[in-house]
Amino acid sequence: METQTLAQQTTVSIGICAVTEVENTLRLTGQILAASNPGLRIKELVIATDISQGMLNLLRQKISAKKLECIVPVQARAASISSIAPLFDGGKVRIAYSFNGALNLEPDIEKFPLELSKVVERGGYFVCSVRNILCLSETIAHAAVLQLDKIAPRRKQPTMVSVGGIDIPAFYYSTKFMSRLFEPYFKLKKLVGLPAFLPPAYLNDYCIRFRPVTSLLEKMETVLAERFPFNRLSDQTLFVFQRR
Ligand SMILES: C[S@@+](CC[C@H](N)C(=O)[O-])C[C@H]1O[C@@H](n2cnc3c(N)ncnc32)[C@H](O)[C@@H]1O
Repeated sequence: METQTLAQQTTVSIGICAVTEVENTLRLTGQILAASNPGLRIKELVIATDISQGMLNLLRQKISAKKLECIVPVQARAASISSIAPLFDGGKVRIAYSFNGALNLEPDIEKFPLELSKVVERGGYFVCSVRNILCLSETIAHAAVLQLDKIAPRRKQPTMVSVGGIDIPAFYYSTKFMSRLFEPYFKLKKLVGLPAFLPPAYLNDYCIRFRPVTSLLEKMETVLAERFPFNRLSDQTLFVFQRR
């Protein structure tokens, strides 16, 4: 079969500081494209956006160390993401994503879905993971050791987090809030708890101390993380949205 070059596939990453995240997404989107277009050579480009110039500089260093020139760092804020539209053909992409709570750091989150809808083509996807306002495993872990003052730590909003040495306010969101926010522009296709049963990473000590319990929880993750209500009570929630 003759090999041709597919028109360039561009994806947008929002709030990036981890190059492995881009590498993994490149590999996955590459596999999906290759599977649905057998015989075609695929050229991918990732526009990696972040509000912080410091984080973008870090990304630039990683790009040159790993020779990943297909990643283009661009300074842009999530709430004004449509400003990057002139950077790609037709001003629209098929896939955009934002992982690990970058959207929790956007104070104007209400503006984001409309802005995003301007750069994602109809039928295209937006995949994001967002920190949840209620994490059941966190509440149970603190209750089990009688740290009652920490049972609902996320109710107090915002919390300050340090990003590149600068303190930024972070807001937690329920799955209901996020689903409603995106509803006018995006259909919700999937909700996955990340993780739904294991405690969040900062409580890893519990996982090690209670190993027999946590290995059972790991098995439950694989079966139940996408099921109601567990997919609404996790540390982060993975949302798959499709542009209307
Ligand atoms: C928690 S890190 C997540 C980074 C990456 N996605 C990961 O998984 O490691 C948050 C990133 O979001 C960026 N960020 C914070 N507020 C932002 C905003 N309003 N728009 C775009 N990026 C933002 C920060 O500079 C930082 O690099």
